[in-house]
Amino acid sequence: MIKERIQKISTDIFDTVVANRRYLHANPELSFKEYKTAAFIQSKLNEIGIQWKTMSGTGVVATIKGNLDSEKVIALRADIDALPIREMNEVSYKSTCEGVMHACGHDAHTASMLGTAFILDSLKDEFGGTVKIIFQPAEEILPGGASLMIKDGVLENPAPSCIIGQHVSPFIEAGTIAVRPGKFMASMDELFVTVKGKGGHGAQPHQNIDPVVITAQIITSLQQVVSRISNPFSPTVLSFGKVIANGAINIIPDEVYMEGTFRAMDEQWRDQAHERMIKIATGIAESMGGSCEFKISKGYPVLVNNPRLAENIKVFAEDYLGNQNVLEAEKWMAAEDFAYYTQKTDACFFVLGVGNKQKNISAPLHSPNFSIDEQAFNVSTGLMAYIALQQLKNQV
Ligand code: NI
Repeated sequence: MIKERIQKISTDIFDTVVANRRYLHANPELSFKEYKTAAFIQSKLNEIGIQWKTMSGTGVVATIKGNLDSEKVIALRADIDALPIREMNEVSYKSTCEGVMHACGHDAHTASMLGTAFILDSLKDEFGGTVKIIFQPAEEILPGGASLMIKDGVLENPAPSCIIGQHVSPFIEAGTIAVRPGKFMASMDELFVTVKGKGGHGAQPHQNIDPVVITAQIITSLQQVVSRISNPFSPTVLSFGKVIANGAINIIPDEVYMEGTFRAMDEQWRDQAHERMIKIATGIAESMGGSCEFKISKGYPVLVNNPRLAENIKVFAEDYLGNQNVLEAEKWMAAEDFAYYTQKTDACFFVLGVGNKQKNISAPLHSPNFSIDEQAFNVSTGLMAYIALQQLKNQV
């Protein structure tokens, strides 16, 4: 049985996967600068004897073709970049790169996918078709490595009929995964707002146009986009994390600058919301005698899992892990550039549990204390290989 063979190989390579993850964790690199990471991936693929090519700078695309007869092609994707965060974990494989950390688990995605590549390569006589493995740079910053790789043809020559990816989550336990059909992750847009007034002495507000008060109104009123204008069944988030009014106790500043994030689960609503936010903010500013520049930098789109592929993955995962270890993922207001793939072909992005309450592993993604329970590799390497092989055999 193929499942047992995969499980056996996965157990055999567990220590190697852990070692690879720890190397990557100790040597994190920022988006579009993953030079050592790409070289590491290439050297590991060379050791196994898997063909690869580079793409979009630091991207690596490996190809594994089964020896049985089939023209079917599927793609698997792992992202490889780290974040500008100073690691607080005291572990032997702590980041050696000051101020850079794999705080989003992309080290785990990459190491796990190298393990999956090894398993698939070992089983070439058992399957037909081609698995394209995409090691993708720069998930963490706009415009996202996925959009560049798509532009550079990663989904062509040969074109995969589907693409599958996973993301670690400390909020579900290692040993489990979670998958959700349909809309799964949010679109994400960056907001840059400058509110202009006329500064002056704090004791004479009538002689100034106070941009701080205008900004306060704007921030409060904009929440109505979320609470009054948005359909309650369509999740929406608007958060301003940076507000700078650089006056003083008795000085009203000339302007206030703020930055925020807007997230939604519906592309049409997303566009409407942009218009409404600009209208509300500029309208308020003008009505109070000031002005407002409201710039929106469009980020990643809504991530929509193909329902049929998500159902397939759920069934394969239940088969591989047991029903009790396959959960339904909740909608997630984080954004992912994997969403670009979901716009181009059948795609499914699922969640890999890496949390462990007993071991106290629960710090959130993007935090300096983020860590994973490496036991999750007992699941992830083999499961991804099993999903790939089952999906290659599948007619739909
Ligand atoms: Ni991530």
